Amino acid sequence: MERPLFVAWSAVIGRAWGKTNNGTFDNLLHPRSQRDQNSMNNYNIAVIPGDGVGTEVSAEATRMLRAAADKFAFKTEFETFDWGCDYYLEHGQMGPDNLLDVLKEFDSIFLGCIGDAGKVPDHISLTILLQIRKGFDQYVNLRPIQLYPGVDTPIRTATPETVNMIVVRENTEGEYSANGGYFKPDQPDGFANQMSVFTRKGCERVMRYAFELARKRGEARGGDSAGLITNCSKGNALNYSMVYWDSIFNQIAEEFPDVKTDMALVDAMTMWFVKNPQFFDVVVASNLFGDIITDLGAMLQGGMGFAAGGNINPEKIFPSMFEPIHGSAPKYAGKNIVNPIASIESARMLLDHLGEKEAASQIQAAVMKVIADGKIRTKDMGGSNTTSEVGEAIVKEFLAS
Ligand code: IPM
Ligand code: MN
Repeated sequence: MERPLFVAWSAVIGRAWGKTNNGTFDNLLHPRSQRDQNSMNNYNIAVIPGDGVGTEVSAEATRMLRAAADKFAFKTEFETFDWGCDYYLEHGQMGPDNLLDVLKEFDSIFLGCIGDAGKVPDHISLTILLQIRKGFDQYVNLRPIQLYPGVDTPIRTATPETVNMIVVRENTEGEYSANGGYFKPDQPDGFANQMSVFTRKGCERVMRYAFELARKRGEARGGDSAGLITNCSKGNALNYSMVYWDSIFNQIAEEFPDVKTDMALVDAMTMWFVKNPQFFDVVVASNLFGDIITDLGAMLQGGMGFAAGGNINPEKIFPSMFEPIHGSAPKYAGKNIVNPIASIESARMLLDHLGEKEAASQIQAAVMKVIADGKIRTKDMGGSNTTSEVGEAIVKEFLAS
């Protein structure tokens, strides 16, 4: 495992951190790597419920994680942080200055959802999310899109047979590089500019991850297919960034001759997602394109209530962060009515990432069983069960099977 020997926690987003391969500074090793060696089966999880319905959905994720720990004889310890818009109203910032230092001690982070435009403008509140993704080099945003039997979707072509793909979204740079400014913004000739940054390293690493994932999915399916990866591009119009991205994709593809490749321009991809969802297996996309197509993906899988996500630092140098991809839906907050499945599925991804593969797969089986039985459903599914009733039903199924 590659480990940073020195980490400089400097300015907020876009922080610089140095690395050296000089092995003589072992005492400066990241504390996580030491704890990993001591206690493999005790996971310290930071929980940031955030805003709106975040508290309710996080409670179902931790309920699930506790049940998994009981059943599979590992330990989970949770620490909850009250960062979010209410914290901002009190302190003038979304979390403390040293939040990355605090979080870096944990094995994983679970995040409910952030944002409440009635309290703090979104482009300010959401910086905490981007700060963690970038600060912990969570360069893969993994978003599985699978339609479970028994879930309704507004898209007619979507069936459990046709919808089973995963989007690998670049998560630290690209269009989200937070680089830009204003010139005379209030004047008639004012303007804003915002620059994308596509680094070779940033493109290569997320693409390699996607290719490896396609290979793994191919192997898991059996047969002789090593998977298909679709490059989500816009090289026809973005004549520097996406042309560069495409050229790096083609270069990485040569390292994986067994994986089939395809390319779709992002606009056309939204059409193909609807017209032929069965075509897709692994999709690799830049930060913004990945953001956009996964909201459409959520509809393929039945709605935002089902869409889980992980912000992954594959080398495990830093903790990864798991979150449902839905927003904080402030108008539903405290009503105990939203669907907790996206959150529970994100907890499932968290365990999978920590190596608790069997627990993760049993969680998925329990989710699928409760959905297929069709008796317990939240409002978005046409039912009248509460958030906690759905969470309890899934835990009960998980413990019983
Ligand atoms: C997401 C969200 C975020 C993003 C926002 C809240 C900054 O839409 O996780 O998909 O754009 O990444
Ligand atoms: Mn989004």
